[in-house]
Amino acid sequence: MGKRKMFSGHLGFILATAGSAVGLGNLWRFPTLATKYGGGSFVLLYIIFVATIGFSLVLTEAAIGRKFHCNVVDAYRKINRKFTFLGYIAVLVAFLILSYYCVIGGWILKFITVYFSGNELLAAGDGFFDGFISKATWPVLFQALFVLFNMFVVMLGVQNGVERLNKVLMPALIILSIIVSIFALSMDGALEGLKYYLVPDFSKLSFRAVLAALGQMFFSLSLGMGVTITYGSYVRKDIDLEKATKKIELFDTGIALLAGFMVIPAIFAVFSSSSESLENALQAGSTLVFITLPKVFIKMPFSGWIGGTFFLLIFFAALTSSIALMETVISTWKEKLHLKRKSCTILVGLIAFLAGIPASLGYGIWDSVSIFGMNILDFTDFCTNQLLMPLGAVMTCILVSYIWGTWHLTDEIKKSSAFHREKWYLILIKYITPVAVVITLISSILNTFGMIQL
Ligand code: TRP
Repeated sequence: MGKRKMFSGHLGFILATAGSAVGLGNLWRFPTLATKYGGGSFVLLYIIFVATIGFSLVLTEAAIGRKFHCNVVDAYRKINRKFTFLGYIAVLVAFLILSYYCVIGGWILKFITVYFSGNELLAAGDGFFDGFISKATWPVLFQALFVLFNMFVVMLGVQNGVERLNKVLMPALIILSIIVSIFALSMDGALEGLKYYLVPDFSKLSFRAVLAALGQMFFSLSLGMGVTITYGSYVRKDIDLEKATKKIELFDTGIALLAGFMVIPAIFAVFSSSSESLENALQAGSTLVFITLPKVFIKMPFSGWIGGTFFLLIFFAALTSSIALMETVISTWKEKLHLKRKSCTILVGLIAFLAGIPASLGYGIWDSVSIFGMNILDFTDFCTNQLLMPLGAVMTCILVSYIWGTWHLTDEIKKSSAFHREKWYLILIKYITPVAVVITLISSILNTFGMIQL
């Protein structure tokens, strides 16, 4: 292995990790779940998970990365040969997520073309989005386009350029989101939505909401896929990992919350006066973001431009995440299959595209397919975020706490600075995180197979 390049400092690591963390998880998945699972109580629970379980896992990954300075499969192998499979689970999860991530990326591309061709009225019309995703060909073609963008960037190896671009685009996304949020909040009926979003109502907190919040935490913080291990391996020894972890979490959660401010009050404003009932709209799930936002944009001045720019910015946020996912897969396949970078990129791109097609068709010609009550995309999402990622996380906790020894990591963290929350970290990684995750994991499996009713 050649000389590994290093991040220049604190900020480099934070921005790179935040770049992979901020994506569709924040802008599409978080508002979707928060509307569906009861608003304020879900949001509060999510924040608690991020501050506890998330904190211990992000810090663990970053410290493992900095200690070993290598990729995820090798890192696990160096800790313990028998646990190398955790590295492979990570790659499988990355592949599965990539497959459906590109379907949603395709939806975003479609909206960019709609807005920049002056069809914002069309996008705001009832049934426009459902009409689009239920077609067999167009969504798949846009999905292919999104995959091609990924392959193009990965093949040219211009990630550096994209990362740099992201440093400009991310602030732009934040500013535009704040403007849209303020606008959404000024709509009639929006304040009801704000209340729903921010005031916890624990009667709405079901066990499914707990599961969803946990899965969302794994997804949004890009946990269990070795991304933070990889980025952690580029961090200099004098960087305060504990502080960096906190900043990454704040940034990621901040953007998710902002997305909620844009979408949730607007849902109340739009649907309290429409024929469709608000209750149905709140339950609609994964497609609602695409239906509500166009209805907000249309009320704004220069709506075509605002909408177009907005989806373009989401596109870039999604692209940096999907590139990281694709890279994770390619870096292992390349070695295992002895392929050149170019041919491996084509192979991974093609297979991820094919694997994503059923998820897309699940909204149209295959909408009768229901696996444990979920459509194909939601089922893949469930398997990765609520089964495989938690499983990988529990195994990592057990490995680090009971087989390898946490002192390896606390020593590593203390190389750069005092470790203020060391005790707290140890309690989390040894007891709270594995126990909490195992309980949710088991209940989720039993529930899915109909053995208990949650
Ligand atoms: N966190 C990303 C998002 O919020 C999705 C994601 C999950 C991811 N795991 C990842 C991105 C690994 C890059 C690498 O959209």
